[in-house]
Amino acid sequence: MRKPFVAGNWKMNTDIASALALARDIADRIGRLDGIDVAVCPPFVYLHAVADALSSSNIALGAQNVFFQPNGAFTGEISAAMLKDLSCTYVIIGHSERRHVIGETDDLINKKISAAINNGLLPIFCVGELLEQRKAGKTSAVVTEQVKKGLAGLCTERIQAVTIAYEPVWAIGTGINATPEQAQEVHAMIRDLLACLYDKTIASNLRIQYGGSAKPDNTAQLMTQPDVDGLLVGGASLKADDFASMVETAVKIKTGSN
Ligand code: PGA
Repeated sequence: MRKPFVAGNWKMNTDIASALALARDIADRIGRLDGIDVAVCPPFVYLHAVADALSSSNIALGAQNVFFQPNGAFTGEISAAMLKDLSCTYVIIGHSERRHVIGETDDLINKKISAAINNGLLPIFCVGELLEQRKAGKTSAVVTEQVKKGLAGLCTERIQAVTIAYEPVWAIGTGINATPEQAQEVHAMIRDLLACLYDKTIASNLRIQYGGSAKPDNTAQLMTQPDVDGLLVGGASLKADDFASMVETAVKIKTGSN
């Protein structure tokens, strides 16, 4: 039985006051919920303050990126050990905005995943196709290649630290979410691929989140899909009400409780 997992990706939003207010609001509403893992991923510069605001809740802290080197002359970069220092549990790696706006490659993403795990962080590893790739019938090929390259060299033990987030690029921030059937199809394909790359137990234990215009009004339909184990939420995670209601819906559907 996979524990549902909902994470909020705040992207490059909030300021110190609104980040703290949002974290406190989320902690007040859903900070004691059982049966689900919840994380928020604020900008690097607010991690420390948000960690304090979440300290008496069950909400975990995540970062939005990490560099693979342990330390040294890498101006502007942040290491996995630094994120651990700030109480991060999770780190988003390979988000489509980093792939397509910043130009991150599968090879770089693979190094980041490895460095994160080596330092005790749990990667949320994002994959997803562009609209033209979907239209050309290449979704499965694109996602397969991203998964294979991103996880290259990760042994059976280390892969268990990973959550995969399927985020079709055309659905991110557009208001157009993948249909529950489209999400389920790709999630099932990823799980089959994991069974080939590793084994059936790993494939059935690993959590796969959906991301891309997930909102309160489509959460139930998405979470009802058997291979959708949670959500990576962008825009809607900036509103405590919306995020809390999505988390409550997710746990209700997957566990029938709360
Ligand atoms: P969105 O972003 O929910 O605003 O579409 C999702 C993401 O980028 O993780």
